[in-house]
Amino acid sequence: MNPRYPKDVEARSNTQDEYAADGYESEPLISSKEIEYSPRKRQFSLIHLFIAFLAGVLVQFFVGRVSSGSFSLSDSSTTNADDYGFVPPYVGSTEVHHYPPTEPTGVNTELFPTNVGYPGPTPTGAEPAIFLTAPSYPQHSGAPNLLAPSKFAGAKTKSGKPFDLFRSWGNLSPWFSNPKGTFGVDSGPEAPETCRITGLHFVHRHGARYPTGSNSYGGPAKFATKIHNYETKWGAHGSLSFLNDWTYKLGEEILTPFGRHQLFDLGVSMRMKYGFLLKNFTESNTLPVFRTESQNRMWSSAMHFAIGFFGYPFEGQYEQSITIESWGFNNTLAPYETCPNTGHAAKSDRGTWYVRRWVEGYLKAARKRLNAQLDGIKLDTEDVYAMQMMCAYETVAIGYSKFCELFTVEEWEGFDYSLDLRFWYDSAFGSPFGKILGIGYVQELVARLTQTPISVHNTSTNGTLDDNPITFPLDGRSLYVDATHEVVVLEILTALNLTSLAKMGPLPYDHIPEKRTFRAAELAPFATNVQFQLLSCADPSLTSTEQIRVIVNDGVVPLSPLKGCPEDSKYGMCSVNGFVESMKESISELDWIRYCHEDWTLPEGDKWQTVDGTLHRDDVP
Ligand SMILES: *[C@@H]1O[C@H](CO)[C@@H](O)[C@H](O)[C@H]1NC(C)=O
Ligand SMILES: *[C@@H]1O[C@H](CO)[C@@H](O)[C@H](O)[C@H]1NC(C)=O
Ligand SMILES: *[C@@H]1O[C@H](CO)[C@@H](O)[C@H](O)[C@H]1NC(C)=O
Ligand SMILES: *[C@@H]1O[C@H](CO)[C@@H](O)[C@H](O)[C@H]1NC(C)=O
Ligand SMILES: *[C@@H]1O[C@H](CO)[C@@H](O)[C@H](O)[C@H]1NC(C)=O
Repeated sequence: MNPRYPKDVEARSNTQDEYAADGYESEPLISSKEIEYSPRKRQFSLIHLFIAFLAGVLVQFFVGRVSSGSFSLSDSSTTNADDYGFVPPYVGSTEVHHYPPTEPTGVNTELFPTNVGYPGPTPTGAEPAIFLTAPSYPQHSGAPNLLAPSKFAGAKTKSGKPFDLFRSWGNLSPWFSNPKGTFGVDSGPEAPETCRITGLHFVHRHGARYPTGSNSYGGPAKFATKIHNYETKWGAHGSLSFLNDWTYKLGEEILTPFGRHQLFDLGVSMRMKYGFLLKNFTESNTLPVFRTESQNRMWSSAMHFAIGFFGYPFEGQYEQSITIESWGFNNTLAPYETCPNTGHAAKSDRGTWYVRRWVEGYLKAARKRLNAQLDGIKLDTEDVYAMQMMCAYETVAIGYSKFCELFTVEEWEGFDYSLDLRFWYDSAFGSPFGKILGIGYVQELVARLTQTPISVHNTSTNGTLDDNPITFPLDGRSLYVDATHEVVVLEILTALNLTSLAKMGPLPYDHIPEKRTFRAAELAPFATNVQFQLLSCADPSLTSTEQIRVIVNDGVVPLSPLKGCPEDSKYGMCSVNGFVESMKESISELDWIRYCHEDWTLPEGDKWQTVDGTLHRDDVP
């Protein structure tokens, strides 16, 4: 039974849109069961903003009762609302501040003109080129305006490394520079002596967002619903006493203020590094084309990046392509939208199987510890996991979270690993869809690198856009910028065959392999970004002057796994030709119809494995 795979396209568009959200929270708001058996409950999900209001009233009522002292221990019962056969609809925020007001008074655009003249002198200077003018490449440390609990100051991990809470949240971490050597190449993004940088193909994720509409395992809204709608009175003490008057403040889907900052900052940072590439556009009298998708957080991320990169107003400085992210639209930056098989949980949601097993182990002690501070309500492992989620989400939304204080360094390492498991099996080397969903972007990259249009559109590519030189220029531009989701970034890395990121795979659910190279926090955090850096090198030991490097969050990734690329642990370079030939081979090995449309099945959990993100020859219907 695959409720996420309705037969008709009309119904599909609802669930698939929700599925299309970022990996972790990629399921419909209410569980599939409810969709199937109770269409009325689904209605609730659509009006949950209204319900949030109602829930807020309810919470006030319960909180009032608890804090006014009428709560008594003898009332305590562990009965869950579920036991009555009633599952309350998930709440949105129990506290919502609608800004801006819908019809503010005193608004007078005539009295507040946007241009009053008298700008003063406006001469401009040279484009920045930090690669050429600074002694080293600036590192991005990640998270201004966010606060971690003081108890973690100076903390060390089990293996003796400095502990950083903000780098322990997998895909929910704010992006940070991966230091030199992270992926096995002993170089930063700065160009080798004999080379100069001639171009950049840049792919980035949106910034920090609220949770996506979801009830997936450990979803924060699910936890908020449980404690806000609990049938019986409950109370918390000790380190959990904040819970007595805690309200759920998170919205859904859209960027948080910090997320907007991340993209603005990324735009500034890219201008500082690659501003000199704009000289080519002035010379050729053209504008760069950047791409993003229609989804609000994607659009907003692109706008904030542009403000950072070009400054405000950015009109007239570049062209922004906004592709449609919705079921049925070919889109390489949202490739699952035309791949029906990704709607089969049994095929595509393999991560939860591992996450469920892993959390039972590393959160056992935490569950016991936290339950001892609660009366009248019992937390299950999923609730405790959701509290870790809440820490990450609250921090990137409102700057600080009391939930972060509740866990130990080791439990945060466990949390981080749970997200490695999730993304390894759902979107990368451990997923049967890892490669096929990333291949459309790789085809576009090859088209751009070779200045040759895509010959057949039989994957996620969109011929209407890609065959048009205005929307998809192929005249050897020096700068391309594309915005997408972390799952797609991972799918692209998988399609690129960067198997050095897959060491120690398949990832186990009973311990953390310390030497694994697949880490969601390093590869797919908020505002994660990949630089495809083009270089022209005068080094006679190289077979070709035109070279390419793949740089993930400032860490150079070895291209040596690729057939056409040499071992280069010093700079991680490969000739553009060798790279392109390998990509062409990967493209020719895949079959979109088989992966996305044929009715194959796989054994559950670890009875089936892939370590390169493909189906095997015998995994046929
Ligand atoms: C290609 O993209 C355009 C613009 O987003 C869209 O209107 C069109 O429907 C897409 N084509 C397909 C086949 O999805
Ligand atoms: C959209 O994708 C499908 C499936 O790969 C393909 O058959 C079709 O030609 C594509 N349409 C366009 C306009 O690119
Ligand atoms: C960009 O401009 C430089 C300097 O004029 C030139 O050498 C280079 O070939 C140009 N690159 C592209 C991709 O047009
Ligand atoms: C992909 O990587 C593997 C090594 O992990 C290698 O054997 C294979 O040749 C590569 N494929 C291509 C097309 O480069
Ligand atoms: C696309 O079509 C070409 C030509 O028919 C074929 O060789 C290739 O395998 C197809 N690719 C995919 C990914 O289906």
